[in-house]
Amino acid sequence: MSGRAKLGILISGRGSNMAALVAAAADPDYPAEARLVLANRADAAGLEHAAAQGVPTAIVASKPFGKDREAFERALDARLQQAGIDLVCLAGFMRLLTPWFVGRWRDRLINIHPSILPAFKGLDTHARALAEGVRWHGCTVHYVRAEMDAGPIIAQAAVPVLPGDEEEHLAARVLAAEHRLYPLAVRLVAEGRAPVAGERVMLHPTVAAAGTTLLNPLG
Ligand code: GRF
Repeated sequence: MSGRAKLGILISGRGSNMAALVAAAADPDYPAEARLVLANRADAAGLEHAAAQGVPTAIVASKPFGKDREAFERALDARLQQAGIDLVCLAGFMRLLTPWFVGRWRDRLINIHPSILPAFKGLDTHARALAEGVRWHGCTVHYVRAEMDAGPIIAQAAVPVLPGDEEEHLAARVLAAEHRLYPLAVRLVAEGRAPVAGERVMLHPTVAAAGTTLLNPLG
């Protein structure tokens, strides 16, 4: 990537992680710019926020494609190519992507998931964390592979599970961590400091040297 990486941010709903990325990218010194916010449904609330921030938005509705996931993804891919996107960030994008799309964007496609992977893949992560009685919970940014919530891990943040926590308390604590972690992870990727080798992310020595430890960069 020469110059600032062009981000395509994919959403399906609220878009608070998208908003965190857009806010980070508003700084001209940030190594990536928000080039396009794309939703698979017209009622995704985040679209309005993106537009208000001056970020171009697009809707590629998934519904008309029915079960033909790859046809939907070809339309999605065409829109991303048209915008000259370098890096695709999934931010609450509620579609499982096919091997075709994942292969096409290999190592240029990342996701944020609300758990410390590989624990709690899938949905309802906060309720499941509470049900298991774990003491730590958190979030992960990872490169996307065809299997759900799998792929080389770029960054993780941990938050404590506190006595008396209910699902919404824990969800809010994790979400605040997500909003800090995702811009940090995108920075590392955009700067070429989080390359994949042998299906692991090999963090550049400067990352460790700077003390940006990725177990918990929030401390
Ligand atoms: C976040 O918890 C994210 O980790 C998960 O879906 C949620 C999306 O929230 N993949 P938002 O739309 O970014 O507010």
